[in-house]
Amino acid sequence: MRRIALLGATGSIGRQAIEVIDAHPDLELVAAASGSAPIDGLAPLTQTGGDLTGLLDRAEPDVVLNAVVGFAGLAPTMWALEHGVTLALANKESLVAAGRLALAAHERGGGLLLPVDSEHSAVHQCLEGRDRATVAGVVLTASGGPFRGRAREELADVTAEQALAHPTWRMGPKITIDSATLANKGLELIEAHWLFGIPYDAIEVVVHPTSVVHALVRLRDGALLAHLGRPDMRVPISYALTYPTRASTTVGPLPLEGLALEFEAVDDHAFPLLGLARAAGERGGTAPCAYNAANEVAVAAFLEGRIAFLDIGAVVEETLSRVDGAAARDLDDLVAADAEARRLATRELQPA
Ligand SMILES: NC(=O)c1ccc[n+]([C@@H]2O[C@H](COP(=O)([O-])OP(=O)(O)OC[C@H]3O[C@@H](n4cnc5c(N)ncnc54)[C@H](OP(=O)(O)O)[C@@H]3O)[C@@H](O)[C@H]2O)c1
Repeated sequence: MRRIALLGATGSIGRQAIEVIDAHPDLELVAAASGSAPIDGLAPLTQTGGDLTGLLDRAEPDVVLNAVVGFAGLAPTMWALEHGVTLALANKESLVAAGRLALAAHERGGGLLLPVDSEHSAVHQCLEGRDRATVAGVVLTASGGPFRGRAREELADVTAEQALAHPTWRMGPKITIDSATLANKGLELIEAHWLFGIPYDAIEVVVHPTSVVHALVRLRDGALLAHLGRPDMRVPISYALTYPTRASTTVGPLPLEGLALEFEAVDDHAFPLLGLARAAGERGGTAPCAYNAANEVAVAAFLEGRIAFLDIGAVVEETLSRVDGAAARDLDDLVAADAEARRLATRELQPA
């Protein structure tokens, strides 16, 4: 039996994870948490809001599936890494923000860190058992979101409702807006850097509208490995929860006849949040933490109708230009850097 603690149980990933756990006799849900929605009775131990590490201490899980959204996922990510408990990580924001601190905790704890993000799960599978010296780079695919192909001027008046209509994935509101701005791919770029130890200049991003190819790995001899599958999160969730046995799922095979694979370049002018993430990642220190914090503030404001779509990038850019980005020595430093970036980003929301 593998004992699972599921954090973010009421969300898009959380609900699909419950489906995977219910279908697999060797997986047992021992603890579940949400932010504010009631979840009584979902698992032997449940918690709504508050400090999630107390719940994890009591539950003593074999696997923590962190499917909380945003920086709120930091504490359980660090708990699992420090304790050497397998971390199935959907909450990319925590790894982006903590970066080197998370890696150091992972090294001390010695547990498994398994990505749930479909792109990173794909890279993980393409890299498995491979001599890293043979790997030349990684290619992350982006669906392009609902505004793919639009020029920057055509994005000025788009509404939250339009931005929430994602063409290929059904996800929570924050990540859906991040997919529309390409901030999601920016977060994933930084996540890939930390997960796989690949330098930023060896991580490419291409637009691939159907989301059938989840990621590719370039090898030094010119070969390119691709991971294909239906865009269905139950596959990477199942992979992470049952690793390394790779249980079967109810997701059907991908039909190949008539399947066309199209790739195009990202329009950096219309979607500046990807380039801003790359710059923040290369700058290092707490710049990625500030990128994430400012983006969270701006996305919440956009969803509330307080700023326009293009303001999200402007708020993040302005915040990054004002933070010092100094490296965090510990979690207190990191929490302070997050708070300072949120303060600066919130100031940017005010009319001049
Ligand atoms: N959805 C996808 O397909 C997908 C794919 C790849 C990666 N991810 C990543 O997975 C994470 C979750 O995404 P999602 O789409 O599932 O989001 P979601 O549908 O918005 O769900 C978020 C979950 O987090 C919980 N939560 C929020 N704040 C919390 C807090 N302070 N303490 C405890 N729980 C809290 C929510 O509880 P309430 O219901 O009570 O608010 C909810 O259960 C994100 O980091 C996202 O980037 C998602």
